[in-house]
Amino acid sequence: MGIKVVSTGSYLPEKILTNHDLEKMVETSDEWITTRTGIKERRISKEETTAELAYKASLNISGLKPEELGLIIVATATPDAFFPSTACKLQAFLKNKNSIAFDISAACTGFIYALYVADSIMRSKNISRALIVGAERFSKILDWNDRTTCILFGDGAGAVLLEKSQDEGILGFDLGADGNYGNLLYVNSVGSNESPPYYLKMKGNEVFKVAVRTMVESAKRVLEKTDVSPKDISLLIPHQANVRIINAVAERLGIEKGKVFINLNKYGNTSAASIPIALDEAIKSGAAKKGDLVLLVAFGGGFTWGSCIIKL
Ligand code: COA
Repeated sequence: MGIKVVSTGSYLPEKILTNHDLEKMVETSDEWITTRTGIKERRISKEETTAELAYKASLNISGLKPEELGLIIVATATPDAFFPSTACKLQAFLKNKNSIAFDISAACTGFIYALYVADSIMRSKNISRALIVGAERFSKILDWNDRTTCILFGDGAGAVLLEKSQDEGILGFDLGADGNYGNLLYVNSVGSNESPPYYLKMKGNEVFKVAVRTMVESAKRVLEKTDVSPKDISLLIPHQANVRIINAVAERLGIEKGKVFINLNKYGNTSAASIPIALDEAIKSGAAKKGDLVLLVAFGGGFTWGSCIIKL
């Protein structure tokens, strides 16, 4: 018995905010943003809540039968509410009454954490279908006067349907966290002693270095655990934070550029949504095909990191 990703979906809000638009908002330039990050534009949700983004991404999954789901997990750092969870809202939208539903908070690593939890629950319990979503509305936690952060992020959602299967589809994980780095990348909330508004704060330079190191180490560990050689990886889907981070990770893993999926030029960093959006685009564009070994690797606030190898 194994667990397989059987189908994927994604949704990006319509409104596009380009680097040129940002030039009118803060002291920056398209040239600076492009060379430092690889990002050209990002999507902004004007009206749609995180749960609605999650719902639209889920509806985009072909063959999804909501009533058959036994588990719904949403990875998000920007939920609609403290409670009910985004997953409970999604469950109601889907008119499902048979699942357990909860959110996971692990910032940009959230989707891989959610996959890990779903994989473990499905293997140990009588649950054969699960919907795992990464959904974010980061535009709501950005200080649009802070040029060091507002240029990096965007809104969106990606979703996967997991099913129990004869053959193994999720080959293995490596996950980790180190809370000592919490002060390099954070958004406070009501439990803190900070007063609102609560905006994302980041020491970009330091985050960059730890991101490269932890993503490389985590990916190497999952390759070793699953006994897969980097040359057997058909596609690397890294968290889409910065093209320079992605290139450094791929190079250190010995994975050639043509096998690295990049879409951050269009969407920026969509945090927990970035990997499922990229996975959906990779599958639908033919960049990832049935039978391929795909390496997912992410890094995020916490710090958290994680990687996973799936066989499509
Ligand atoms: N436009 C123009 N100039 C900017 C700018 C912007 N949007 N943001 C910062 N600058 C300036 C800085 O003020 C600094 O000026 P100074 O040299 O006069 O002090 C200069 O550009 C260089 O800043 P620095 O922070 O050293 O640039 P960098 O090469 O490290 O790039 C990031 C900055 C944020 C793009 C980069 O550090 C990064 O991507 N880090 C990782 C962030 C991340 O991925 N976070 C999420 C993880 S999940």
